[in-house]
Amino acid sequence: MVLVTGGTGLVGSHLLLKLAMQNVPVRAIYRSVEKLEQVKKTFSYYTTNVTALYDKIDWVQGDILDIPSLDDAFQNVTHVYHCAALISFSPSDFNILDRVNREGTANIVNMCIAKNVQKLCYVSTIGTIGRTSTSLAADEETEFNRQFANPYAITKHLAEMEVWRGAQEQIQVVIINPGVILGPGYWENGSGSFFKTAHKNYSYYPPGGSGFVAVADVTAIMVQLMNTDIHGERYIVVASNNTYKEVLEMISRAMNKKAPYKKLQPWQLQIGKYLDLLRHLLTGKPRTITHSTIHGLLHPTTFDSSKIIKTLDYTFEPLENSITFSSRIFMKEHAE
Ligand SMILES: NC(=O)c1ccc[n+]([C@@H]2O[C@H](COP(=O)([O-])OP(=O)(O)OC[C@H]3O[C@@H](n4cnc5c(N)ncnc54)[C@H](OP(=O)(O)O)[C@@H]3O)[C@@H](O)[C@H]2O)c1
Repeated sequence: MVLVTGGTGLVGSHLLLKLAMQNVPVRAIYRSVEKLEQVKKTFSYYTTNVTALYDKIDWVQGDILDIPSLDDAFQNVTHVYHCAALISFSPSDFNILDRVNREGTANIVNMCIAKNVQKLCYVSTIGTIGRTSTSLAADEETEFNRQFANPYAITKHLAEMEVWRGAQEQIQVVIINPGVILGPGYWENGSGSFFKTAHKNYSYYPPGGSGFVAVADVTAIMVQLMNTDIHGERYIVVASNNTYKEVLEMISRAMNKKAPYKKLQPWQLQIGKYLDLLRHLLTGKPRTITHSTIHGLLHPTTFDSSKIIKTLDYTFEPLENSITFSSRIFMKEHAE
């Protein structure tokens, strides 16, 4: 039996669809019934056979911070895909990020040890890859540096340490470090904001860029890595390095919208940081523009995916294909 954590999220729901299509016996953890509807919706983007595929999944209610609730979920499990995490760049969320990402991963690793799980695939992030001071792309050996890291990256780095601890305890582990993951349906979270921004016809785009990858590539690579003997390795999973301007242009093109054309200047980002802080203080909403996010925008790093490409002889889907696919779904769901 294969266990998926975070099955109600962007990556987890796409992974569950893939595993269900391959007839892999699969169990998934969920926290609330309402979130299960989004999984069915995700399936409906790709198949008309939603109910039959969804019914192949053995759903168990659980929380990665509640160890007793994991006991049922781990019965007869041999392989675990750990996708559950909290994504926030707000410094005020550090404690909850630390709990979900580091402590939650420690709990999953401990369960894997206790239940003799054979292999664990952990979804980390390029945020835990170090930044290069030259124009050279960062790779898996580029050392993590906490100095300019955001709280999310710090807690994902600590989570990776927990996974390596599992490797010392005889579990086979493999870690993937994806770039910004693009896919349909989760418009309110993380990368979904690119689609919302393009749709709103804003004139401004942020400076800098990042590594990007389609969710279909992320899940395909996870399944391939799980099905090989490879372990004790981590892999950057980035289809291409793009500026935010390029990505917003691709989405705008797919949505038939005018692309943002004015670059946000450093002084505008600084003003935005204080306005964002004020909004946080007044509404309690997580901060999105912080010292570390501005540093990241002004000092972008590129990422080298050649290790995964060579290992699996993998060809990434061109980013524009998946952007067009997701943008069309966004337009359908947000038709005026
Ligand atoms: N999205 C990106 O651009 C990106 C880029 C690089 C790496 N990643 C990594 O990829 C993985 C999946 O991300 P995603 O984009 O799929 O995130 P997502 O859509 O926000 O999904 C997060 C998942 O984690 C679950 N979760 C959160 N706290 C939990 C807890 N205490 N117990 C059990 N489940 C919990 C959520 O459950 P609920 O539905 O109940 O909230 C949801 O299923 C994460 O590890 C993330 O760090 C994401």
